[in-house]
Amino acid sequence: MKLYTIKLSVKEQLELYRVEKNFEKISCKPFLKWPGGKRQLLPELMKRLPKEYNMFFEPFVGGGALLFRVKPDYGYISDINPDLINLYEVVQDNVEELIENLKIHRNTEKYFYELRNADRTEEYKYWNKVEKASRFIYLNKTCFNGLYRMNSDGHFNVPFGFYKNPTIVDTDNLIACSALLKKTDIALASFEAVEKKARKCDFVYFDPPYVPLNKTSSFTKYYKDDFDLDAQFALRELCDRLTKRGVYFMLSNSYTETVKELYKSYDIKTVKANRAINCKANGRGKINELIVTNY
Ligand SMILES: C[S@@+](CC[C@H](N)C(=O)[O-])C[C@H]1O[C@@H](n2cnc3c(N)ncnc32)[C@H](O)[C@@H]1O
Repeated sequence: MKLYTIKLSVKEQLELYRVEKNFEKISCKPFLKWPGGKRQLLPELMKRLPKEYNMFFEPFVGGGALLFRVKPDYGYISDINPDLINLYEVVQDNVEELIENLKIHRNTEKYFYELRNADRTEEYKYWNKVEKASRFIYLNKTCFNGLYRMNSDGHFNVPFGFYKNPTIVDTDNLIACSALLKKTDIALASFEAVEKKARKCDFVYFDPPYVPLNKTSSFTKYYKDDFDLDAQFALRELCDRLTKRGVYFMLSNSYTETVKELYKSYDIKTVKANRAINCKANGRGKINELIVTNY
């Protein structure tokens, strides 16, 4: 819903959201395209939320599709990707500066590669948080398929996407997201950190990198290290400990024997998902995925 008809400044809009009693009415959506993003699985996830819970946790936040749909009153999000977490922190605290900075970008191939290659230069370490966040959004909106991939030196290396009119500055949405993130704790942390934070009757949504369907379809490498089978096992053990303490969890993962075996003592539902991570046309389409819950 639009809360205003006259043009307000970013500060005024934020203030309006702050005093708006019914935050439910404010619509916000992820400000990034994110590989493995859960936007198209949202109806399945929403109908499986616990009826009541206290705090909302999303420790593999990525683009945060569920976070921005649930719009929790008390939230905690984390991820191991430092550029992503920097962006969330900037949207939370410096959205006005971010919006101004985003306006300077141009959707040309030459400009794209200049900005993409900035992290290969000495000066990059002197860029401030807002400049880095702005570059991150720009690259995400203009690169091929919104992919996130680094070369072995840790430099972003996805090519230009040649989109006609990408939305680089989505002012209203960024402001709405900022208002939500002001009620959310943000951490650069691995998923295990959630164990110390979550209490009885809190709710954790786990959306880890998926167990690959087969060796060639895998896309488990988001940031440096692979999320391997040991990590999947450690995650299941964490789920067991949370369950013993009365914390609710929901987890999504691939439709594989490994996941079925790992979570066989929990409720497992098969749902249809539209996977668009594979860039080949024949790599898309409806496939089965699993949603696990402990309630
Ligand atoms: C499937 S994506 C999450 C997508 C998200 N649900 C969305 O809607 O966009 C998995 C995320 O887990 C993060 N990740 C990978 N290993 C991690 C770890 N050990 N701890 C926390 N996050 C991790 C990746 O950086 C990636 O953002």
